[in-house]
Amino acid sequence: MCGIVGYIGSEQAVPILLESLKMLEYRGYDSAGVTVFNGSLETYKIAGMIKDLETVIPQNVTGSTGIGHTRWATHGKPETRNAHPHLSSNVSVVHNGIIENYLELKERLSGLGYEFLSDTDTEVIAHLLHFNMNCNGNKCLLDGLAETVKELEGSYAIAALCAEEPDILAFARKDSPLVIGIGEESNYAASDVTAFLRHTKEVIFINDNEIGLLRPGSIEIFDQGGNRLSRDTETIEWDLEAAEKAGYEHFMLKEIHEQPTSIQNTFAGKLSELEGTVTLDELHLDPAEIKRLRRATIIACGTSWNAGILGKYLFEKLAGLHTDVETASEFRYSNPVLCGEELTIAITQSGETADTLAAVRSSSSYGCRSIAITNVVGSTITREADSVLYTRAGPEIGVAATKTFTAQLIALYMLAINFGRIRGIISANEAKDLIVGIKRLPGQIQKVLGRKEVINECAMQFADKHDYFFIGRYLNYPVALEGALKLKEISYIHAEGYAAGELKHGPLALITEDTPVVAIATKGHTYEKILSNIKEVKARNATVIAVADDDDTEIEKYVDVVLRVPTSHELLAPVLSSVVLQLLSYYTALAKYCSIDKPRNLAKSVTVE
Ligand code: AGP
Repeated sequence: MCGIVGYIGSEQAVPILLESLKMLEYRGYDSAGVTVFNGSLETYKIAGMIKDLETVIPQNVTGSTGIGHTRWATHGKPETRNAHPHLSSNVSVVHNGIIENYLELKERLSGLGYEFLSDTDTEVIAHLLHFNMNCNGNKCLLDGLAETVKELEGSYAIAALCAEEPDILAFARKDSPLVIGIGEESNYAASDVTAFLRHTKEVIFINDNEIGLLRPGSIEIFDQGGNRLSRDTETIEWDLEAAEKAGYEHFMLKEIHEQPTSIQNTFAGKLSELEGTVTLDELHLDPAEIKRLRRATIIACGTSWNAGILGKYLFEKLAGLHTDVETASEFRYSNPVLCGEELTIAITQSGETADTLAAVRSSSSYGCRSIAITNVVGSTITREADSVLYTRAGPEIGVAATKTFTAQLIALYMLAINFGRIRGIISANEAKDLIVGIKRLPGQIQKVLGRKEVINECAMQFADKHDYFFIGRYLNYPVALEGALKLKEISYIHAEGYAAGELKHGPLALITEDTPVVAIATKGHTYEKILSNIKEVKARNATVIAVADDDDTEIEKYVDVVLRVPTSHELLAPVLSSVVLQLLSYYTALAKYCSIDKPRNLAKSVTVE
């Protein structure tokens, strides 16, 4: 959701900026633009894609300093005049975030004679910066920006250029991601590291309320008080290949296929089959504290929230820990009853979801300890939470979460087993069974992937349907929710995920012969119950697609299509069923010629409320 990039060095800026913007395309955008210093500040922008932007930039634009932006419309329609960069005479600005007091600032600046050409909140930053540099004393770009951010309310990652200081790129951050890439005689700024991974893996993550400047060979960072900060660099472990398609038609398909490896990376070095233990030293949790816990609250959005539902069932079963799952956007405006001996678990693959961050801040204000489960090293949540459990699934570019979802499930299994052992709820043998089962999952996922043609055929059979239902019970309920979310987000088919027992309380009215119902029917203590629910919908003429275990010989009698998963430990089957449903959505969207990696209206990283 919006991406900013900046480059300052000795090479031509335009190709670097365009390539960086392309790497950020996955975040979601509807317009794009760049400013390059070519003797003066030259700005090119367009409502449309990066490839459209390329056509409006003349071949002869040179210059080795520039900033760029992909915009996902919030204030003002996706029109060229609303695209970034925004200019005010000699300054140019790109911004990711939302300026909440922009109307008030706009009124003031209009009164001072500034003319607004867009409907955006960002344009106030450009004019305010110009005002602070030129009319409010005579300030350099960095001091002008420092003055400007003092007046901004809301969230921002800003990169700014001034025509009179062509060897400087200034930046500032609050509540919106910003990372600096360190090259040789060149530096980069971006919303995330994938933008400049081709050039450098050495980075500095900028913290909230920090401001600074880049020169070709140096970086200066300051706190709010103007004190110079000394910051260590970090090395990113991902390589560029991980952020490219590697021969797959879509990132989503590549990421689905990466799951045998990605979940292995999530649990690597943490599971002891011999002792029946899960070691999570990075959480720095005192066993006495884990024993004392009275409640956990899981906070998340979208797919991560679906993972949270599974987490609730696991914590309650394996760790005897009462667990609530809250939608972050609701939690932050509710009046939660929390106290110190409670734990908040924030699940967010990006680590940048604005609602989840705000909800964690809110829970921390009650004195709750917080754990973040995230995939992105250095993301904002890693600084907000008290401890972090990284999922280590590698970069996920497709907007639809796939490998990060299964990695979140693995993280939740590990947490639940760890807590369960410490709290004395499960025995070493029970833990061993689960650990053996988890270690088998990569091979079992590989088997599911090997059956993709059957899933493809099923997807094609029903791709023309307008409505789909996904039903499941207990641990298969969140699988149903996630299956429905995946299908609607990439194929645009209306899909509902339901706890199967709820059907007769309303949704059954919608079941007809034109409604495929996907029943997640892997074996477990609710198996007989889901069979009853299957019979209920069959009686209303629905076509039923079941996801069932390899050794289930009964299911075929009741359903129209069976999609098989290798038989696994009952608690672990959701991982395998989820892979089936990811492939079902993928092939449905493919049959419908949908924009699979960048579905309409959606962004990968939802950094605004
Ligand atoms: C997943 O396919 C969706 N694109 C979306 O629901 C996503 O899970 C949600 O926005 C939360 O993102 P996060 O995990 O980065 O916080």
